[in-house]
Amino acid sequence: MAAFDIDRILAETMVRHVEYRPEVPSTNDLAISLASANAITFPSLTITDRQTGGRGRGSNRWWATDGALTFSLTLDTQALQLEPRDWPKMSLTTGLAVCEMLEGLIADRRIHLKWPNDVYLEGRKVCGVLVETIAQRPRLIVIGIGINVNNSFAGAPQELLSIATSLTDMTDRSFELTEVLISQLQHIERRIASVVANSEDLAESWRARCMLEGRTLSIDLGTRRLTGVCHGIDDEGALIIQAEGGIERCFAGVVSQIL
Ligand code: BTN
Repeated sequence: MAAFDIDRILAETMVRHVEYRPEVPSTNDLAISLASANAITFPSLTITDRQTGGRGRGSNRWWATDGALTFSLTLDTQALQLEPRDWPKMSLTTGLAVCEMLEGLIADRRIHLKWPNDVYLEGRKVCGVLVETIAQRPRLIVIGIGINVNNSFAGAPQELLSIATSLTDMTDRSFELTEVLISQLQHIERRIASVVANSEDLAESWRARCMLEGRTLSIDLGTRRLTGVCHGIDDEGALIIQAEGGIERCFAGVVSQIL
């Protein structure tokens, strides 16, 4: 039996199809193959209790044990009126929706957005977002989200212990996963509407939670590395860096070193 209340998810969120598997290597991979085969209606949710080969940005892996929330939301951008120019904003916007969900769930905690796709809780990563497109279905985007909820990092690999956390590790309690998921999906729906409406509040909300603002950092831009002071995030979702040669706007990159 599914660990999630699928009837409630369908009744209380924008999701029109749920694909649940007890175990799967990657919900993004499953979502992409289902969408490529034309097998489902959208928005569709691909969800599992146990993700064994989660992918992160680039060659990163996403480590998660039982109790984590790992899912992918596949959207028909045309049906939602999301223009291709809006797609680059979706990682940051999803991260914002995760911040807002967490702010409603746990009080008095430092919750930040780390450009372009991470959420930090008390200085440690609690969520990663991976947005992908599908070659055979160019109208669709897949938003993969991993949130560390009831999975404790007590037994995690050494290299993760000091940089990652979960809600249960921070609060000493456990959370009802369907509740967290439904709240998360509702926050995402609300923020998709902000993107479509080109709402001013969207960029203000990114900026209010930006973890990198005022910090000196290095960012790997693929062809070169840029070092400078972060001046926050602009209206298009670009990270603004005051470098030696002047102000630069970064639309993609990996922040490698924060001083
Ligand atoms: C990152 O930190 O670079 C992004 C991590 C994204 C992980 C989620 S978990 C659900 C979905 N399926 C995957 O294989 N990856 C994403």
